[in-house]
Amino acid sequence: MEAQSDQIRAAAELLCGRRNVVALTGAGISVESGIPAFRGSQGMWSKYDPMEYASIEAFMADPEKVWRMLGEMMRVVGEAGPNPAHDGLAELEGRGILRAVITQNVDGLHHAAGSRNVVEYHGNLRELLCVSCWKRYPAGDARYAEPVPRCDCGHVLKPGIVLFGEPIPWGAQGEAEAHAKECSVLLVIGTSAQVYPACEIPHMAKEWGAGIVEINTEETPLTGPVTDIFLRGGAVETVSRLLEEVLSIEAQQA
Ligand code: OAD
Repeated sequence: MEAQSDQIRAAAELLCGRRNVVALTGAGISVESGIPAFRGSQGMWSKYDPMEYASIEAFMADPEKVWRMLGEMMRVVGEAGPNPAHDGLAELEGRGILRAVITQNVDGLHHAAGSRNVVEYHGNLRELLCVSCWKRYPAGDARYAEPVPRCDCGHVLKPGIVLFGEPIPWGAQGEAEAHAKECSVLLVIGTSAQVYPACEIPHMAKEWGAGIVEINTEETPLTGPVTDIFLRGGAVETVSRLLEEVLSIEAQQA
């Protein structure tokens, strides 16, 4: 069942009343752009075991195998564009309501939608890094055509995303923590909240006094204990309804 109008209204009032909103997004926000999520029967991890394909140990042991999965991911992401949920967050930022987006996604669709303050918690696919000298290269189709892209120094290049077993980039971790502590509302969209340490962000925001609004097609471990307002539904429709309600409240206040 989709979120009721009164729940959407209550969430919009919270956003407009407190402003200082931060969004935490996961794969679910990009599903309607054509990028499958990770978990669930249609997810990437039902086809590829993440420990075999998405850990740094697996990458170092057999980069060619991992690059085959990454090549598929790159193609899917390369064909996708932002959807109205990404657009809606960019609009909320433009209106001074949303301060930042912390995303676990590596697809770059928040930037493509025009969001300016984006923390890419799990990195991105725009860059490749040498596993030995850490030289960075902009991602270009030609490099993915190789079975394993290589650095000028001869070592293997890995994508600029966080693989299992790797730390969160230091800057992203610090920024995300600061946003979690300072925001007044955390809008959690399309994440199963199962991957550490990203799943700690809503708990931290709550402890520091933020209201938690969650948008998801299904309940998550956050839904009972952490979430204040749960809006069940797809990200596109739910963010669009929320934005419409925010605009109507703003118009009344003007
Ligand atoms: P998951 O695949 O674990 O969860 C996706 C969530 O989106 C689920 O809770 C779904 O119910 C929800 N969902 C699906 N379709 C939706 C829609 N149209 N609208 C709203 N919600 C929808 O993805 P994440 O939580 O992002 O890590 O996964 C976290 C991390 O695990 C990823 O960043 C990735 C993965 O391993 C790395 O690559 C390091």
